[in-house]
Amino acid sequence: MPISQRTQVGIVGAGPAGLVLSHLLQLEGIESLVIENRSRQYVEERVRAGVLEQGTVDLLTEMGVGQRMQREGLVHYGIELRFNGKGHRIDFKELTGGKGITIYSQHEVVKDLTNARLASGGQIFFEVENVSVHDFTSSNPKIHYRKDSQDYEMSCDFIAGCDGFHGICRPSIPEGILTTYERVYPFGWLGILAEAPPSSDELIYTYHERGFALLSMRTPHISRLYVQCDPDEDIALWPDEKIWQELETRLASDGWKLTKGPILQKGVTGMRSFVVEPMRYGRLFLAGDSAHIVPPTGAKGLNLAVADVRVLARAFKAFYATGRTELLNTYSEVCLRRVWKVQRFSWWMTSMLHRFPGENPFDHRRQLAELDYVTSSRAASQSLAENYVGLPMD
Ligand code: FAD
Ligand code: DHB
Repeated sequence: MPISQRTQVGIVGAGPAGLVLSHLLQLEGIESLVIENRSRQYVEERVRAGVLEQGTVDLLTEMGVGQRMQREGLVHYGIELRFNGKGHRIDFKELTGGKGITIYSQHEVVKDLTNARLASGGQIFFEVENVSVHDFTSSNPKIHYRKDSQDYEMSCDFIAGCDGFHGICRPSIPEGILTTYERVYPFGWLGILAEAPPSSDELIYTYHERGFALLSMRTPHISRLYVQCDPDEDIALWPDEKIWQELETRLASDGWKLTKGPILQKGVTGMRSFVVEPMRYGRLFLAGDSAHIVPPTGAKGLNLAVADVRVLARAFKAFYATGRTELLNTYSEVCLRRVWKVQRFSWWMTSMLHRFPGENPFDHRRQLAELDYVTSSRAASQSLAENYVGLPMD
């Protein structure tokens, strides 16, 4: 017999979406339980995004989980676009009325949120198995799972599907309800984490004949770098020396030197744009990567996940305070307006900065003209800047 549990909002997934939602609900006096199929250590060490929009930083700070981010995060007020061997700075501060971004690893955000949840008596169950969601068109949906050889049935008022792109919530919605919009890119990113002081104070996005390259960072001692590669690239064919050589070639600029160091971690990420509509079925709400994926160029995935759960927490707050369902009913529509604008931006940055297999010399010239335009027109630079630092929250 399964052990019965009861909570107001059952949350599947302890990534940024699930953890921020659980925390926001607690601040409103709404109870939630989070289940996660990985171990706490795995989730807290998983290297992913690193760029936080101003709105994400402000929200984490207001939630009371921003102290370490404020201390250790690196605030940047611009990025460099590099092409034809020359750098061009996009000055966010000047173009957006003082806004910037903060470099702080996603796994550090996850650590801070997990610590805060557990310290305030919140419950996160790690290493659960056989997760399934049921009855979400009734007023009493259920989550089934197994932990330490014991089956559980969690009954709740609502389920938040925060279980990422490969989770089980989205596929549990019956056929015919969701419409999928998708584009898969014919390239991937080979990314490394290196013990080397970043060779630039700000991020450098490079368009080169041999393909895209990005210089980013995590701390003043750790660089994060990427090169465009085949989507199914075999990482075994990339010894460290070859990776550094490729980065040096693509990032080359007069008088500039790439700092190298031991490579701590490397991997290949595929690139896709993906959206399902609507982001809700009955009492199951999808948030973050479970509902949409952006290609990484522009660093929007984590920020979009946080923007979703902010809207969702507000809707739950209104429901529990007044019994009204208007905000729950408009959740999907409100989120999708932002989702599509961020999809557009991520697609545009990706299209501008990568070499596409099969492109012709016209396409190449057009991409260079686009970069020239973006870096020389105030209107175009401003458009990039306002999207990069984050569009206003609804
Ligand atoms: P996730 O972080 O994926 O969290 C979902 C959680 O649900 C996970 O902890 C998962 O273990 C758990 N889960 C899954 N299935 C189940 C289940 N059945 N039961 C219980 N729990 C489950 N974005 C950027 O902006 N820049 C980057 O450089 C970048 N790099 C990335 C690299 C990789 C390899 C990946 C996969 C993503 C990357 N992203 C990047 C995107 C960004 O990390 C995501 O957008 C962000 O993690 C979304 O948060 P989320 O909480 O929605 O999903
Ligand atoms: C990083 C990732 C991105 O996708 C991006 O556009 C900028 C930085 C990063 O991992 O640091």
